[in-house]
Amino acid sequence: MDPFLQGLPKAELHIHVEGALEPDLMFALAERNRVALPFRSVEEVRRAYVFQNLQSFLDIYYAGCRVLLREQDFYDLTWAYLRRSAAQNVRHAEIFFDPQSHTDRGVPFEVVISGIHRALTDGGRSLGISSKLILCFLRHLSFESAMDTFRQALPFQEWIVGVGLDSSEVGHPPEKFRAVFDAARAEGFLTVAHAGEEGPPEYIWQALDLLGASRIDHGVRCIEDPRLVDRLVAEQVPLTVCPLSNVKLRVFRSMAEHNLKRLLDRGVRVTVHSDDPAYFGGYIGENFQAAQDALGLSRADVHRLAGNAFQAAFLPATERQRLAGELDAYMQAAG
Ligand code: ADE
Ligand code: ZN
Repeated sequence: MDPFLQGLPKAELHIHVEGALEPDLMFALAERNRVALPFRSVEEVRRAYVFQNLQSFLDIYYAGCRVLLREQDFYDLTWAYLRRSAAQNVRHAEIFFDPQSHTDRGVPFEVVISGIHRALTDGGRSLGISSKLILCFLRHLSFESAMDTFRQALPFQEWIVGVGLDSSEVGHPPEKFRAVFDAARAEGFLTVAHAGEEGPPEYIWQALDLLGASRIDHGVRCIEDPRLVDRLVAEQVPLTVCPLSNVKLRVFRSMAEHNLKRLLDRGVRVTVHSDDPAYFGGYIGENFQAAQDALGLSRADVHRLAGNAFQAAFLPATERQRLAGELDAYMQAAG
């Protein structure tokens, strides 16, 4: 990786912690927990990571989750992610977790969140990475299941900054979860939602108008609706874009066709992130690298993208300004 991109101060705002499960850790946890895997080797796992669309990825992603059983497993997963991120100068990370993919297998909510939270605390102390946690509801499951999950989260509210919406998008519009997002906002949670990844622009309108989303995860299909793009620009709604994910899941045929640069030039507050780094060929730095290589991003473009992420972070204004200042100093020193 270009040392300039590696050292660039970054905010990661779109990372599913379960998507950071590298094959070697998957095997180690499978052995530790005596869980059978449908793969014989790490190489065989990597060969299986060829996806036709979002659903073909999710099937493998949820299968991988089966090795996560104990508090220490969630700690190890989160800690491994933070170590890799520290090596790419991630200064702040807002991390999604999918409790239903664990509670549905009988793993208590408390076990999941305690392991993740303990690693995040250690990451702040020994790696200097600040962090927030965002609980995502699985949209292929029922509204009632989301509401039940929300109730389980309430005793841990001080560890969770917001709620989000992920999993199979098409056929599961944001409106299905309106009441649980209303309840979350009433309790003081911020909200985000995956929308416009595979789903239509209408789902982005719904995420904004019905769920009160402060940011849209992916959102790249907004470009099909000029009125929506006008609104995103006017309101400076952040879109957390994940270039490698979008190509791996065939949202775009190639990186050269990705609309990140077009959206940036149009004035949309786009940012760059990793989504599921263990599955899509890289962490946030590799996403910047791939986008820069294919789209010819200038240093000024990279500065804008990285700066947008600090501005879009769920941090107090003083903290956002401090981190943006670190970025500006880095850019100045890089010349
Ligand atoms: N869960 C993990 N990664 C996801 C993605 N890219 N889209 C929707 N749900 C997800
Ligand atoms: Zn995602």
